[in-house]
Amino acid sequence: MSGPILALRGVTKSYPQGGLLDRLLGRASNFVALDDVTLQIARGDVVGIVGESGSGKSTLASLAVGLTRPTTGEILLDGEPLAALMRDHAGPWRRRIQMVFQDSGSALNPRKTIARCLAQTLALRGVPRATREDESMALLALVGLGSEMAPRLPHELSGGQRQRVGLARALAMKPDILIADEPVSSLDVSLQAQVINLLSRLTRELGLTLLFISHDLAVVRTLCTRIIVMRKGRIVEEGPCLDVLARPAHPYTQLLISSVPKGIAGRRAPAAAAASATSSVG
Ligand SMILES: Nc1ncnc2c1ncn2[C@@H]1O[C@H](COP(=O)(O)OP(=O)(O)OP(=O)(O)O)[C@@H](O)[C@H]1O
Ligand SMILES: [Mg+2]
Repeated sequence: MSGPILALRGVTKSYPQGGLLDRLLGRASNFVALDDVTLQIARGDVVGIVGESGSGKSTLASLAVGLTRPTTGEILLDGEPLAALMRDHAGPWRRRIQMVFQDSGSALNPRKTIARCLAQTLALRGVPRATREDESMALLALVGLGSEMAPRLPHELSGGQRQRVGLARALAMKPDILIADEPVSSLDVSLQAQVINLLSRLTRELGLTLLFISHDLAVVRTLCTRIIVMRKGRIVEEGPCLDVLARPAHPYTQLLISSVPKGIAGRRAPAAAAASATSSVG
């Protein structure tokens, strides 16, 4: 299909504020976390979403994967309204859009080995039992982990290793869209570089559409082709990543760039540095 793979049309998400008493007295108000957002993501786009804390980035992500529902507006996956797709809970759309969080690794079942966890995810995708083990090993290799991790329990891995298992599990679903909400901020710099290189390679080789939420403009600059700048629940600026970072039009984007220690928005991110130091990851 040639239309956008993901679209938001006038999407607003508000949360009721105040307690029961406020509501009884008619004093309750709504806090608007996302305010009339319209955007289109084309297949294969690698989109960086930046903005201050509380600007609505994670809210946008959880709406897009169907974890929360919009107050008003519409979300379309490949032209189909998400609300309609969600009525069919087991629908294949769930596979097609996956999310990784800052602490995806901590969401792993503590009693299941890594191999078991990946095999179960592959089973959900309908991968036959006979090939699940091989595919699990391939997924571990893809995220730069050895097969010796397979029999371990989550607590027997480091935080960075767990995070990469979280990523492997999302990739096990062969998603069309991956939403990564600060996926590397819990990792040390060299692991950040590995995961970013991996994401970069996946977007190129698998044509994965990536929404990458980050506070690190240098990483966004290296990885992303487009950038969306958010503030107070609104998109204040968007466009080709390098253009926006070189010539920000909105004062808030200018502020965001100028608040990064001098030269960082233009410096090479750890990913680029590591890419030239080591030829491949995983
Ligand atoms: N369930 C909720 N109930 C009430 N308010 C919420 C809820 N979820 C989010 N918010 C509010 O919505 C706003 C946007 O939150 P969101 O998590 O999207 O921000 P963010 O841009 O991801 O920030 P950060 O960079 O800190 O992760 C915040 O002010 C937050 O407090
Ligand atoms: Mg967030």
